[in-house]
Amino acid sequence: MFRTALIQATSSHAAALAAIHAAAFPPAEHWGEGAIATQLTLPGGFALLHPAGGMVLGRMAADEAEILALAVLPERRRGGLGRALLAAAEQHVGAAGGRVVYLEVAAANTAARALYAAAGYREVGRRSRYYPDGGDAFVLARPIRPGGPTAG
Ligand SMILES: CC(C)(COP(=O)(O)OP(=O)(O)OC[C@H]1O[C@@H](n2cnc3c(N)ncnc32)[C@H](O)[C@@H]1OP(=O)(O)O)[C@@H](O)C(=O)NCCC(=O)NCCS
Repeated sequence: MFRTALIQATSSHAAALAAIHAAAFPPAEHWGEGAIATQLTLPGGFALLHPAGGMVLGRMAADEAEILALAVLPERRRGGLGRALLAAAEQHVGAAGGRVVYLEVAAANTAARALYAAAGYREVGRRSRYYPDGGDAFVLARPIRPGGPTAG
C-alpha cells in the first residue's frame, strides 16, 4: 500500500530527505541536506521518498548497489514503510541491472537487523568500531535478479 505514493527523489527533495534522516538517526550520524543533494547528483545516486515519513538513499556502481540510508519517522514505524522502501529500492536496482545490494547496519540496531534478515540479507563482513559511538557494523548483502523480482 506504500508503493503507490513513493516519489523518485531528486536533489530538489534533499531537504525532505534530510529531515526524515535527522529524525531517525543520532546527531553524530546525520547527513545534511547538502550531503544528500550531492549524493543525488553523483552517477548512480538514487533516493525514494514517502510523504508519510520514510526515505531510502542508495548508490549504484556497475552491477552493485549500496543502501546508504534507510529511515522512517519514529511515529510511523512498524507499519511496513521501512520494508516497502527497501523493496522499492531493490526493484530500482534490479531494473537498472544491479545484481547485488550491500549495506551496513549497526550490531546494536535490532530493528534494522530484523528487517534486513526478514528481507533476505545475509552477513558478508564486519567492520569493527565503524560508527561514531564506537559500535561495530555488519556488512550485509542480498542478491538481485536484474530486471525482475529479487532473487533468493
Ligand atoms: C529500521 C527502520 C527503517 C524500520 O522501519 P519500519 O517502517 O518500522 O519497518 P517495518 O514496519 O517495515 O518493519 C518490517 C520488519 O522489520 C522488523 N522490525 C522493524 N522494527 C522492528 C523492531 N523495533 N523490533 C523488531 N523487529 C523490527 C520486523 O520483522 C518487521 O516486520 P513486522 O512488523 O511484520 O514484525 C526504522 O526503525 C528506522 O528508521 N530506524 C532508525 C534508522 C535506522 O536504523 N535505519 C537503518 C540503518 S541500517
